[in-house]
Amino acid sequence: MRVGCPKEIKNHEYRVGLTPGSVREYVAHGHDVLVETGAGAGIGADDNAYRAAGATIAKTAGEVFAKSDMVVKVKEPQPSEWMQLREDQILYTYLHLAPDPEQTKGLIESGVTAIAYETVTDDRGGLPLLAPMSEVAGRLSIQAGATALQKANGGRGVLLGGVPGVLPGKVTVIGGGVVGLHAAKMAVGLGADVTILDRSIPRLRQLDDIFNGRVHTRYSTVEALEEECFSGDIVVGAVLIPGAAAPKLVTREMLSGMKKGAVLVDVAIDQGGCFETSHATTHAEPTYEVDGIIHYCVANMPGAVPVTSAHALNNATLHYGLQLADRGLNAILDDRHLRNGLNIHKGRITNAPVAEALGYEMVEVQKALAA
Ligand SMILES: NC(=O)c1ccc[n+]([C@@H]2O[C@H](COP(=O)([O-])OP(=O)(O)OC[C@H]3O[C@@H](n4cnc5c(N)ncnc54)[C@H](O)[C@@H]3O)[C@@H](O)[C@H]2O)c1
Repeated sequence: MRVGCPKEIKNHEYRVGLTPGSVREYVAHGHDVLVETGAGAGIGADDNAYRAAGATIAKTAGEVFAKSDMVVKVKEPQPSEWMQLREDQILYTYLHLAPDPEQTKGLIESGVTAIAYETVTDDRGGLPLLAPMSEVAGRLSIQAGATALQKANGGRGVLLGGVPGVLPGKVTVIGGGVVGLHAAKMAVGLGADVTILDRSIPRLRQLDDIFNGRVHTRYSTVEALEEECFSGDIVVGAVLIPGAAAPKLVTREMLSGMKKGAVLVDVAIDQGGCFETSHATTHAEPTYEVDGIIHYCVANMPGAVPVTSAHALNNATLHYGLQLADRGLNAILDDRHLRNGLNIHKGRITNAPVAEALGYEMVEVQKALAA
């Protein structure tokens, strides 16, 4: 199979779908790899590093899309990219389709077989291709929130760790999954007073054990959310209902009860966001203010630390990427976790939450692949 990797074109996205290390693995499996010139520049890997790993360098993205049987990317395809996808091609990347009807329509019309990293599952009920980016975004959320909390940046001017004799800042984390755990680790590390809310009691038990009493855990009801948001200096939105649009847990009305200059970091913005007042921002202009509350809603947070992120992502995507390259659509048929990753095949939606969110009919994977 010919595996292609174009340069990412989303604003301030510096990660790359294939690192030179991954290219070596595909080549060792007997595949041709075509990488767009400059694709690895953001992680310090130049064309020669890719050549040394066995790749051929393409002059344009157009060449990569035209000549590849499988396209490996990081972010969801942008309009100029989805227009180049075609029916006999596999697209292997993050998609986040539920809140994105336009991209979904584009992918349906292209006929491409689209596998979304974020819906591939594992035996423990986790999302192994989302997890490394969630680890990065969770850790970054506190750095970003702490920066926005500084007075010159519009925040209320609180140092998260406090100092001897002055109370620390308060961090509220809504959703104690992978993002939430890593946000809490960083916040605890900085000395903040941290509360994690979740709907899963087993998960709250686990978090309580992990932090050994160093964080507060709280079952997520409207009342608890209100209290924790009203007292928080930073509120991190980290909920996920896999494949579905994020629930709007913090309403505009609730902002009036919060401290002026508090910071909302909506990590779940890539699924539409869990604050009513969130809209996606970019690293170029990451924050905005609504009713005196600073919002940080960057949809591709790990793009800020591409060296760490690209390697962490490749570690997670390589296994299934090689399966797809080695076995094509049979790899999807034979592996239930990869079947869960399939979102669209030949114009049909195969992922239930995506179909439900956007009003499409859902077709079973086996039926779609057999058609
Ligand atoms: N912005 C970015 O750059 C970026 C990067 C990585 C991940 N993300 C997003 O961050 C979000 C969280 O990802 P994750 O990997 O931590 O998911 P996860 O599945 O590990 O955790 C989600 C948690 O939310 C909890 N939850 C669900 N509904 C809830 C509710 N009503 N109240 C409180 N908790 C609730 C779940 O029980 C679960 O523990 C996702 O939307 C993901 O796409 C964004």
